[in-house]
Amino acid sequence: ARREMAEEAILGFLKNNDEIPDSGEFAVEHDLDHEQVKNVIKSLQGFGYIEAKVLRRELWDLTDEGKKYAAEGSPEFQFFSAVPEEGSISIDDLKRMLDPCVFHVGSKQAPKKNWVAMGNQVSRTVQHVEEDKVKEMLLQIHQGLELDKESLKSLKTRKLIISTKAWTGYSDVKKGPNYAPKRKILPTDLTRENLLKYARLGVAILNTEYNFNAKGQPLLDSGHLHPLLKVRKQFKDIFCQMGFEEMPTNNFVESSFWNFDALFQPQQHPARDSHDTFFLKAPSTTRELPEDYVERVKQVHESGGYGSRGYNYEWKREEANKNLLRTHTTAVSSRMLYALAKGPFTPKKYFSIDRVFRNEAVDRTHLAEFHQVEGLVCDRGLTLGDLIGVLQEFFSRLGMSKLRFKPAYNPYTEPSMEIFSYHEKHEKWLEIGNSGMFRPEMLQSMGLPDDVRVIAWGLSLERPTMILYKIENIRELFGHKVNLTTIKQSRICRIGIDSP
Ligand code: PHE
Repeated sequence: ARREMAEEAILGFLKNNDEIPDSGEFAVEHDLDHEQVKNVIKSLQGFGYIEAKVLRRELWDLTDEGKKYAAEGSPEFQFFSAVPEEGSISIDDLKRMLDPCVFHVGSKQAPKKNWVAMGNQVSRTVQHVEEDKVKEMLLQIHQGLELDKESLKSLKTRKLIISTKAWTGYSDVKKGPNYAPKRKILPTDLTRENLLKYARLGVAILNTEYNFNAKGQPLLDSGHLHPLLKVRKQFKDIFCQMGFEEMPTNNFVESSFWNFDALFQPQQHPARDSHDTFFLKAPSTTRELPEDYVERVKQVHESGGYGSRGYNYEWKREEANKNLLRTHTTAVSSRMLYALAKGPFTPKKYFSIDRVFRNEAVDRTHLAEFHQVEGLVCDRGLTLGDLIGVLQEFFSRLGMSKLRFKPAYNPYTEPSMEIFSYHEKHEKWLEIGNSGMFRPEMLQSMGLPDDVRVIAWGLSLERPTMILYKIENIRELFGHKVNLTTIKQSRICRIGIDSP
C-alpha cells in the first residue's frame, strides 16, 4: 500500500507539475519513504511512464581533527589570532602558546594565506581576518549542508572530512512517453495474492488479455541427480520390470577370496597383482571366511574336482585373506550364490549396479573407479540359449536389439561371450558387455545342486551414460573436474529413445 501511495503521489504530482527536481526532497514533502519513492521511480521509468536522472551525493563526516577545528577554530585562524595586532612575536613564544598540532599546521597555512609574515619574529600582514572560513565549512558539513567541489577537495586533502556512504536519488523526474496519471496493471500470475491485489486496485481480471509469455517464478534451486544416477535408475527399472531382485552391494572392501578365489581366478593371475588391484593396508586381511567352503575351493584350485582338472599349484590362504577394493561386482554375485546354496534351492534373478575399483592408468575413457551393471539368472537346466535370449531381451529394452556374440575367456565362466551391438549412426559393431555361464566347479563347490546353471553378464554404467549425454572425456562425468552447472542442467536422457 505504501508503494501504491508513492506511485500515486509521483504520477499525480507530474499531472500538474513539470518535474520533480529531487526525489529526496519530494519524499520529505510528501511524507514518503525515500527508498520506496526510488523503487517506484525506477519501475515507472522502466515502463516509460516517466523519465528521470540518477542523482548521487557523497555524504561526509568530520574526522577527529575536523571536529576539533569545528569547535575551536582552524589552526591558521588560531595561529593568526595569537599574533599581536601591532608589532611581532617570536616563533618560540608562539610555540609555547599554541597546541603543537595547531602550531604545526597554522605556521604553514597562515603564511600561505598571506595573513602573517614568518621569520624568527612573526607579524601580521593583514589587520584582521573577518571569518574563519575553514571552521565555517566544517560546521556546514556537520549540519549536513552541501559544499562546492573546491571546498570539499581542500577539506578532504587536509584530512578534515571523510566520505561515508553515498546518497542516491533521482533528479529531473518528468513525464515519459507512456505517461498516464494512473498506472494500468496487466494481470500476470493469477495467484491468490495477485487476485486480492487486483480486486483492491480495481483491475479487471476477466474478459481481459493475459500475458502468456510472462516468465514464471524462477525454479527453486534444489538437489539434482547426476547423469550416472539418472541412467542407473533406468537400468534398475528394466531389471525390475524383468523380475530381477537387487543384490546388496554396500561393501567396497572385499577379501581376495570372494573377489578372486571363489571365482577360480588363480592366485598368479595378473589381475591379482597390485598393479591392477588396490589392496588395503589396514585392515590388510579379512577376519573370517566359511572354512569348509574355503577348503573345497582350495582343493579345486590345487587338484580339481566337480569335473575340473584344477590349476595344479599350491593354493595359499594368505593370498585369499588379503583385503582389496572390489574389482568387479561379480564378487557380490559369488557371495549371493553361496548364500543361496545354503538353503533349499530356489531359482533367482539378481542384479546390481555399483562401484568397482581398478588400479588403472587414468585417461579420457578410464578412471580408477567406475560402476558396473551386473545381472544373473540362476535356475536348473539353463543353457547358452537362455543366456542369449535374456541378453536379447535386456538389451532390446535398452534400444539395442541388433546383437552379436563373440567367444571370449573369463576364469569363472565357460562358455564366455563378449556382447556387441550394432550402432546405427556410426555404422559399426560396438562392444557393450561381457557374459557367460558360471563354471560348474564354482557352483557345485558352493553346494548348489548339480543341475543348477547360472547365466550372467556385466557392463559399465559410464559407457552408455557417456554415449547418451555425448560426453567424450570421462573426467567431465566423474570426479573433481565435473562442472556442477552442467550436471544441474543435464536433461533426462531416455535409454532406447535418446540413444544417438
Ligand atoms: N565381472 C566381469 C567384468 O568385470 C563381467 C561379467 C559378469 C562377466 C558376469 C561374466 C559374467 O567385466
